[in-house]
Amino acid sequence: TTQQTFYDAVGGAETFRKLTARFYEEVAKDEIVRPLYPEEDLGPAERRMRMFLEQYWGGPRTYSEERGHPRLRMRHNPFKIGPIERDAWLRCMHVAIASIDEQTLDEPHRRALVDYMEMAAASMVNSPI
Ligand code: HEM
Repeated sequence: TTQQTFYDAVGGAETFRKLTARFYEEVAKDEIVRPLYPEEDLGPAERRMRMFLEQYWGGPRTYSEERGHPRLRMRHNPFKIGPIERDAWLRCMHVAIASIDEQTLDEPHRRALVDYMEMAAASMVNSPI
């Protein structure tokens, strides 16, 4: 078929590389989110996030080949994620999405990405405070 995936429509691998690179640049500077990461090196976490998002939006399925079912809520259980952490994470993601130009990411696709991130971040909250 000629059905184009979201992944292809927004520029494929290059766009997801830019998005996650910018996101982890923000995480590295964030005094709420950064301390939650157990590792000094954010590189592997960046790569897993990139593979996950590529797969979610119709790109290569490398994430599940390497990691199996995402089970993101379970994988986030070791980290205390309350409303403050959720908002700090989302701030980093909003900066990352805003860094992708309008030619690459038009308004409807941008809206879909933001809506998904807000929904996903809300679903990762595992602590009332
Ligand atoms: C992994 C924090 C929300 C996707 C992680 C890790 C931390 C973390 C600390 C572990 C990284 C490592 O093992 O090196 C947070 C915080 C969130 C949040 C504080 C606040 C809401 C989300 C959301 C998504 C997401 C909304 C998806 C849209 C991932 C993925 C991984 C991950 C794909 C790697 C999972 C794996 O090990 O395969 N996150 N996260 N996270 N997070 Fe989040």
